[in-house]
Amino acid sequence: MCGIVGCVGHGVDVQETLLDGLASLEYRGYDSAGIATAGETLSVVKRAGELDALVAALEDRDAPLDGPAGVGHTRWSTHGPPSDANAHPHTDEAGRVAVVHNGIIENYQSLRDELEAAGVTFASDTDTEVVSHLLGRHLDEGTTLEAAFRETVARLEGSYALAAVARGADTVVATRSDSPLVLGVGEDATFFASDVPAFLEHTREVVYLEDGQFATLQPAGWTVTDADGSPVDAEVTTVAWDPEQTGKSGYDHFMLKEIHEQPTALRQCLSGRVDELAGEITVAELDALDSFGSVQLVACGTSYHAALYGATLLQQQGIPAQAALANEYATAPAPRRADTLVVGVTQSGETADTLRALREARGRGATTLAVTNVVDSTAARECDHALYIRAGPEIGVAATKTFSSQLIALNLLADRMATSAYRTPRDLVAALRDLPGQVQTVLDDSRAASVVDEYLDRTAYFFVGRTYHHPVALEGALKFKEITYEHAEGFAAGELKHGPLALVTADTPVFAVVTGTDEAAQKTIGNVKEVEARDAPVVAVTDGQSDVARYADHVLTIPESHPRTAPVLANVQLQLVAYHVADRMGRSIDKPRNLAKSVTVE
Ligand code: M6R
Repeated sequence: MCGIVGCVGHGVDVQETLLDGLASLEYRGYDSAGIATAGETLSVVKRAGELDALVAALEDRDAPLDGPAGVGHTRWSTHGPPSDANAHPHTDEAGRVAVVHNGIIENYQSLRDELEAAGVTFASDTDTEVVSHLLGRHLDEGTTLEAAFRETVARLEGSYALAAVARGADTVVATRSDSPLVLGVGEDATFFASDVPAFLEHTREVVYLEDGQFATLQPAGWTVTDADGSPVDAEVTTVAWDPEQTGKSGYDHFMLKEIHEQPTALRQCLSGRVDELAGEITVAELDALDSFGSVQLVACGTSYHAALYGATLLQQQGIPAQAALANEYATAPAPRRADTLVVGVTQSGETADTLRALREARGRGATTLAVTNVVDSTAARECDHALYIRAGPEIGVAATKTFSSQLIALNLLADRMATSAYRTPRDLVAALRDLPGQVQTVLDDSRAASVVDEYLDRTAYFFVGRTYHHPVALEGALKFKEITYEHAEGFAAGELKHGPLALVTADTPVFAVVTGTDEAAQKTIGNVKEVEARDAPVVAVTDGQSDVARYADHVLTIPESHPRTAPVLANVQLQLVAYHVADRMGRSIDKPRNLAKSVTVE
């Protein structure tokens, strides 16, 4: 995990640029942070704790760090606890080089043993520190920073986005293997980062580095070379994201802002893909997709809940489909028919577990499709096909708008994969058209903020739903526990009586999602009566078509819609429930403890 950032150029304030970049990368990890600048001298400042601790340490200095080249890091600990010593950048013993790293050096122990046997003293518990000592030793041999870096990287096994600066050089060197790294090409400076928002206020012109490529950034310009050192004609592309999109725009938290961005995100997802007049769904990215007899969806966390929804959707279309946790699939891939499509659902496109599952599937000859938010992310580039959900940048660690957009993108996929006899139902097209406006209605009218006041500090919180609402129940519980730190579980409503009902008491609110009047709704109402009989407070999330409100203590209303779009609306209410409880409890909503946005370790 972790975020790395860097810049080179006389046209920018290097220290400020690094700090701004780290602020927008803090979602990737926030237990320590540090920066280094280089030119004639090398300076390093790093601190345990969130970025504020580093900012305070820099403010205590007489002058900003000096030099035209700089690197920065925000950490999510893997090797060694959060501490000043374990914070990046890491230096060699002579304090001549500084290295930042996102990923894991798998052979670090043998490298550390080798270096210690040669008399090197380590200052941290991290895997990264071997890189700085190796780099320092190669520089001692009299080579250039670029050559020393290349020789160092040749010794490493594992996943890494790495960057280094050295005393006496106005240069940043960087490379990647299985961890994201993107260059930003500005007029007066060149940047790099784990993610585009880190330099978006400076430039929208980017170069996505490939695994094994090396970048050299200097005030005079930048070059990319391949593993053999040959120059690469790297393509510069323009990202569509706007710097405004990465700020809080007046909201207290990114999460709340992103919840409120859902109408826009959904419009973007549907734009140009749903032709209401023709009653058709057309997704250009999927034009080249063959027909498949079955589908496996692999994903983690919130994206896994979207995958579960997608599997139900495909099954309802008559397509055999199953969702698997990517981390399980990676080590025990589900049996696959010859004509199976493996779909990786991943907001970031960088989740290590999901990438590993997709690589496993591809290695076994499967066709792969990435359903992702990030253009040119690793998943998008490695898969045979990519379907973009177009939600825009999501900064809050808790996934919100991207879940809604994933559900709708999976509808587009299911429609595309249906049999040739299938025609997109008119009512589905109308429901998709109406959905952004209906989400806006939920946002405008939600009573979640007042309802939750009655339910603070309970022993546990349960979420139940059936069919399309089962993933919503799981997602409601994940969001709740993730940002409130309270115990929350989601269940298929029918499973309650097979065990979880033993936990249900007057102190455990149950959030039940019930829409429509079909069999699933009626059976869920039966389950609501069961918990009501155990004195549990019930909050019904409903479109009011059934009589579930009779058995509920509170109702959170959503507009009537299609069975496939109702989960999006119900989930918005549950996002607001989680948000307002966490807010009342004073939790760190955008950066919940122990978590990070982009989980780039297995
Ligand atoms: O980027 P991805 O969608 O692959 O991330 C997968 C999970 O880590 C992610 O969905 C996580 O569960 C959410 N941030 C939780 O809100």
